[in-house]
Amino acid sequence: MAVDSFSAKARKISANIGAHYVDNARKLPWRSPPGGDLPDPYHVWLSEIMLQQTTVGAVKAYFETFSRRWPTVQELGAAEEADVLAAWAGLGYYARARNLHKCAVHVTEKLDGVFPQKESELLGLPGVGTYTAAAIAAIAFGERAVVVDANIERLVARLFTIDTPLPRGKTEIRTAMDAITPDSGAGDFAQACMDLGATICTARNPKCDICPVRKQCAAHALGTMESFPVKPPKKAKPVRRARFFWIEQQDKLLLATRPPKGMLGGMRALPDDGWAAGNDGHAKPPIAGQWRVHDNIIQHSFTHFSLEVDLAVYQDGKIVTDMDHDLWWPLDGIADAGLPTLYAKAVKWKLKEET
Ligand code: ADE
Repeated sequence: MAVDSFSAKARKISANIGAHYVDNARKLPWRSPPGGDLPDPYHVWLSEIMLQQTTVGAVKAYFETFSRRWPTVQELGAAEEADVLAAWAGLGYYARARNLHKCAVHVTEKLDGVFPQKESELLGLPGVGTYTAAAIAAIAFGERAVVVDANIERLVARLFTIDTPLPRGKTEIRTAMDAITPDSGAGDFAQACMDLGATICTARNPKCDICPVRKQCAAHALGTMESFPVKPPKKAKPVRRARFFWIEQQDKLLLATRPPKGMLGGMRALPDDGWAAGNDGHAKPPIAGQWRVHDNIIQHSFTHFSLEVDLAVYQDGKIVTDMDHDLWWPLDGIADAGLPTLYAKAVKWKLKEET
């Protein structure tokens, strides 16, 4: 496309998306309304960390809980990491929670509780990568940063029929997003694009009939919307095996705290067979005695592999263990233990199986 017609198209797209956002912005608890004052940087940062790899629908309740319990970055920085991890339980990708806490401590102790304002300074805070630095700079501080998340990738790849497969196509997509990002209001614009991607320019069955940039969309003109963005061929996920151990005594369940480093690090969990350290677990129980292994398989999908877990239940009545020091959790309050979803699934299955 000639440079002039490219920039004319870019201006039209920018104007149409901006105008559409004025009446159609989703009302979200961390947001300011379109054209309003800049929102609280702490809220923007918290929401953007939560929204990495997670949908708005799943994040809303967690955002409300966190921002009520820790209303400022200093209060979050003063919290125990274990409490932050437990409050994060169920949201997944737990490295985010550890980095969230680390970042809050850093901003509190090293930066007097004030977030840096520039994209270049935000980049490199714990848990803040390219996307998040650009999003916070634009949304919280009004910098003209170029924001590209998965929704925006899809929208922009379709508008300009960018057919280089991801991840290589990211460079072209970023250049195109740069071309349509306005000089002022980059935060509103980025969020307008995210909303468009989430509600209209969806991966399947996009609602082109109500899209404000239908007329500028190259993929719509060809009827090939669903071919974009072009993804690399999918690799089959390896399936790994693990065993969890159920040890119950006096209506209490024996839990473990996972090692601080590695998968689900620092989280409370059921005792298991060390599946996370190697390819598969060794299936050996933590204490000698009678065990019953259930046939039921609990499935869980991580980014790079799926896990199939069975549950071994301790059958011997008397356990020699320190009821005060070991982590015995009352079964009727197990929902408050902050178990990651994988372990919560196993507990749910076991409790249901008993009824
Ligand atoms: N996804 C990531 N950040 C978002 C935001 N600020 N609004 C809507 N969806 C998002």
